[in-house]
Amino acid sequence: MAKEKESYVCSSCGALLPKWMGKCPSCGEWNTVVPSAPKKRKGHHPHYLSLDQVPIKGEERRELPFQECSRILGGGLVRGSLILLGGEPGVGKSTLLLQIAMAMASQGEKVLYVCAEENPQQVKLRAERLGRTNHNLCLLQETQIEEILLQRELFSPEVMIMDSIQTVVLEDLPSSPGTVVQVREATSKIMEVAKSTNTTMILVGHVTKDGSLAGPKTLEHMVDTVLQMEGEKGQPYRILRVLKNRYGPTMEMAILEMTERGLEEVKDPSALFLQERLIGTPGSIVVASLQGSKPLLLEVQALVSPSSIGMPRRVMAGVDPTRISFILAVAEKHLDIQLQNLDIFINIPGGMRITEPGGDLAVLLALVSSFHERPLSQDLAVFGEVGLGGEIRRAKGALYRAKEAEKHGFSQIMLPITDAEKITKETKIKPLGVSSVQEALEISEHL
Ligand code: TYD
Ligand code: MG
Repeated sequence: MAKEKESYVCSSCGALLPKWMGKCPSCGEWNTVVPSAPKKRKGHHPHYLSLDQVPIKGEERRELPFQECSRILGGGLVRGSLILLGGEPGVGKSTLLLQIAMAMASQGEKVLYVCAEENPQQVKLRAERLGRTNHNLCLLQETQIEEILLQRELFSPEVMIMDSIQTVVLEDLPSSPGTVVQVREATSKIMEVAKSTNTTMILVGHVTKDGSLAGPKTLEHMVDTVLQMEGEKGQPYRILRVLKNRYGPTMEMAILEMTERGLEEVKDPSALFLQERLIGTPGSIVVASLQGSKPLLLEVQALVSPSSIGMPRRVMAGVDPTRISFILAVAEKHLDIQLQNLDIFINIPGGMRITEPGGDLAVLLALVSSFHERPLSQDLAVFGEVGLGGEIRRAKGALYRAKEAEKHGFSQIMLPITDAEKITKETKIKPLGVSSVQEALEISEHL
């Protein structure tokens, strides 16, 4: 493996390179990069392995100060891994990483925080709000990648944070910071060092709402883990999602709250999202959703009202528009609800998202409830996928969902009939198993 790393060399300046490039990044000469040594064939000796012969190297992990962050990463930061933390400017990326850096430093680990965006005074001011720090945490104000990596060698930290990848540059590349070429080349240099020195590297990448900044997007396939921080303007809650993870599960998420003293974990997010829910108002229902492997109770709100324009509006937030189209079609076809001339608004309050089909039934019931102006029972939580034939299909994690609803005081849960039996043995919540949308509607109207 070690050989493969630098298997090309620049015949002009002698720089060793991991892969062939048209232009040597070290001296800038074109067409000078050649294989460093003729490839040696290993002859007729087999060097393939059967799966059970492949040695397993356990990943070395370190816990993070936030239990939830450790959990979503699959048990902490993996040594030598490269992590990208994306998010809009101002969402709290620097705050989170500084808190992680400070906590690690206080546990005796060396952390190098490269502040390519802010000056050390600004970082220090922020750090003062967040707690105590010590000499294990060092700041480096530098944008040249070669210099940063040199400084890393001198300090040899266990964790290095680059805030942000869009502001660092390779001196030899003519393009300006933040361009795709710069961001990609810088990341590939950092990755090499992360792997060869077993240093955990965390890169910050700014992403705008429409994902228009090409930089971080192009990095997603290069890094080991992609985290995304989301939050609504004016709301203190932040969602940290795992979009990719070579060392653990994806689709996991943690909820944090931005306070005066930085970010804090929200231990019981279901309770938080139910605090302000509407009771006795048509168009509102609680869904027992699944976020990654964790159940979360959320309110689903729908508002159906006569449209004053020719093209009725379909406005939604926190849901998948394709699934909503399915649900609207099912409501029209199987429940005989005419929606053509109506504006339809669907929202998951608190800036949350439902990304799995298990949320379908809740959306459908909320929609019909608003359509008929009839509120749904406040003691009812629901989940289940709606099929195009009007059937209710099973959803993942039925027991987790039911337990979460029970824990938060719901007395009954409407769920796919195929899931109902699973939960009766282990929960006391009353299961209302349904097999079709007609049945679901019928039952919900008599609660
Ligand atoms: P920041 O971490 O600078 O965002 P990013 O690095 O993603 O651009 O977060 C900035 C916001 O967080 C800013 O609006 C102030 C707020 N904040 C707090 O509310 N409390 C705090 O303790 C800190 C440090 C920041
Ligand atoms: Mg920042």
